This record gives sequence, C-alpha cells and structure tokens, in this order.
Amino acid sequence: MAGSAVGLGNVWRFPYILGENGGAAFLLVYVAFTILISIPVLLTEFAIGRMTGKSIVRSFKTLAPKTKWYYVGICGVICPFLIISFYNIVTGWTLYYTYESMAGGLQGLDEAGVQQVFADTSSNMGISTFWMIIAIAIVGQVVARGVSDGIEKVSKILMPLLVVLIVLVCIRSVTLDGASDGLKFLFYPDFSKLTAKGIFAALGQSFFSMSIGMGIMTTYGAYIQKTENLSQCAVRVAMVDFMIAFLAGIMIFPCAFAFGISPDQGAGLVFVTLPNIFNQMFMGRAISVVFFLLLVIAALTSSISLFEVLVSFYKDQFRTSRRKASIIMSLVVAVTGFACVVSPTIFNFFDQITANVMLPLGAFFIVLFIPIVLKRERIKEELEAHGKSMRLFNTYYFLIKYVVPVAILLIFVNGMLDWIGVDWL
Ligand code: TRP
Repeated sequence: MAGSAVGLGNVWRFPYILGENGGAAFLLVYVAFTILISIPVLLTEFAIGRMTGKSIVRSFKTLAPKTKWYYVGICGVICPFLIISFYNIVTGWTLYYTYESMAGGLQGLDEAGVQQVFADTSSNMGISTFWMIIAIAIVGQVVARGVSDGIEKVSKILMPLLVVLIVLVCIRSVTLDGASDGLKFLFYPDFSKLTAKGIFAALGQSFFSMSIGMGIMTTYGAYIQKTENLSQCAVRVAMVDFMIAFLAGIMIFPCAFAFGISPDQGAGLVFVTLPNIFNQMFMGRAISVVFFLLLVIAALTSSISLFEVLVSFYKDQFRTSRRKASIIMSLVVAVTGFACVVSPTIFNFFDQITANVMLPLGAFFIVLFIPIVLKRERIKEELEAHGKSMRLFNTYYFLIKYVVPVAILLIFVNGMLDWIGVDWL
C-alpha cells in the first residue's frame, strides 16, 4: 500500500503544486485535508475491500446488487488510464536523469545550465518518448508476469534507503546560502496567497498522493487480514506518505530560493532544483545516481498499481491472458502518453482533471455509499473485526457522513467556478 502511495506524487507533484500555490498556507490546508478527509476515505476504501475481498466494481455489485453504484468503480478504470499516461513521462524523465547523472551530463552545470537540461528534455520529443517507452516496457513486463510481489519486496528495502538519501539532500539544501527564504516559504503561512484554486489543488493532491478516490485501495484492502487493525493501517499509510512529501518540500524549496529558481515554475521544479544541490554535495554525482534510481523505483511501484487496474479490467472484460492484456494496454498507454509528450496542454489537462475532479468525485461517492447502502453497524463491524472497539468510530462516522461529502462538494464547486473564471465569493 505504501508502495502505491509513495511515488512521484510525493517528490515531483507535491512540491510543484505547493510551489504554485503559495507555500506554507497550502501546506496547512493540505495537512488538515489529509487528517479530516483523506484518512477517513482511505479507511472506507480499505473496509469495503476487506469486507468483500474484491475490487471496487465487484464490491459494489456484491454489496448493492441491482443498483448503479458500480458505475463509480468504472470511473476507477478511466482515471488510472489518464494518470498513467502522464505519469510514465515523468518516470521517463527520472530514468533519463539517472542516466545523465551516471554519464556526468549534469555535473558542474550552473543554475542556467540545469534549467536548460530540463527545457531540452521536456521539449525534445525524442528523449521524452524514448524514456517513456522504457518506463512502459518495465511496468508492462512486471504486470504481464504478475511479479509485482517481487517489486514490493525489493521496495521494502529500497524505500527506507530513499528516505535516508532525501534526508541527506535536505541537510545539504538547508545549509545552502540563502536557504532560509525557502524554509520561510514552507513554514511561514501567508494566507493572502491562499486561493480557491489552491484549496482545490490541496484536496486533489492529497487524494493523488494517497492513491485514493478510485478504489485502488479497495483492492489492496481485500488482502488485509481480518486480525489487522484497519484504522492503524490507514493512519500509517497516511503518515509515511505525508512524511516523504514533507521531506521533499524541505529538500526542494531551500535550494530553489538559494539558486533563485521560482517556486511556481511548474512540473519541472524537482528537475531544475535537485541537480544544483548534487553539484554542491560531497560525492554528489554518486548520490545523484542512486537518488534518481530510487525515485524511479518509487515511481514504478506506483505505476504498477495503476497499470494493474487496467490490465485486470481488460483481461476480465475481454477474457484474454494477462500477457496479452498487458501488451495491448502498454500500446494504448504509449499512444495516450505520446499525446501528452506532444502537447503540454494535454499533459496538464490529464494531470488536473484526474487529481482535482475525478478523484474527489470518486471519493464523494465511495463515502456516501456507507450511510446510504451499508449502514452504520455493518461498517463498524468491519472496522472492529480484529476484536477491539474502535475508539474514534463515532468521529469517523460523523466525518464520512457529513463532513467529507459536504467539504468535497464545496471545495469542488468553488474550485470549478474559479477554474472557469467565475468569482462568486
Ligand atoms: N499515489 C501515487 C503517487 O503519489 C500515484 C498513484 C498510484 C495514484 N496509484 C494511484 C494516484 C491511484 C491516484 C490513484 O505517485
């Protein structure tokens, strides 16, 4: 579960979205949403999955037969399809940066040089496409062979190592000249910078980062033992996920300010800041190779969870083998991925529409399912199946029955109006 949650969302997307939305005030809202909204949603997805032992579509078909609830699960196939289309490109960039650090192409560059490398990478369709295809090939192979177990085991060892490296890079970053402005940006909230768009983006980012709102975590929940304490699982996943995003922030913003890189410069932020730190670090070149490689692995464990949804959907729908489904889906996401390479507008559209619109809507219906169909006692039973009563059950139930749906709706409508340019407040 942590493998799915921790990925480019933490190290690439979180800093760039936070940077675009003014820093510390965004961070506070993000934390509040994670506690009050995302953890209850995650817990709900787990509980539904464990209750039925099935994926979200089948869960809804089992728990609410002859209704249209399973449509929510169908959205859960479109959404990973759009996410993986742009996600593979970023994984590709990370692969390319691993290669370039090995080859020494990022060494000794000044700030403008580092900027230029990213500009060349993202605008060069050949490079972006080539490395994206490598990313697709790796993910396709793993899912085709159904060996994601192996990957999960490897990442259990490698992810703590990634955290160690992030901490190392953080230390170098905060000791750079001029780093304090970056820390101020991250920790000193300026609420005048908080906009409807920022609040909207914080909700979307929180869902994206925790892989919730489309039922992926339901499938994972199906594998959790009955003896396991679900609330504890949910809180742990959220904490690990948040810690890594938070550390990524401490790693990136002090460096951005020290090198005069604008924090709101968008999707390239990680790629234009990190090489600068590595250039100032003892053994920077070696560290950067390992760092980018570990980031690739974090990205792969997330894209495997996304791709798995597509492959198992296709396999069941068209009754083909896992291998064939995987090959066909690889080709399809290569085509949609290529569209994102060619057009940054499509890239951004997929990135925004999935995180900010589809995941919140998915989460909205998933939590509403509980009071409307399942009812209180049934979910309570599942959450307490390990034999102990859940201390915060009433809080949880209140949150998912009232707070979460109302909050999502408000943030959503407000954000959409802002998006299309209506200023109603
Ligand atoms: N959470 C992952 C990340 O942070 C991305 C991801 C994997 C995801 N599976 C998902 C996002 C399902 C939304 C839904 O990189």
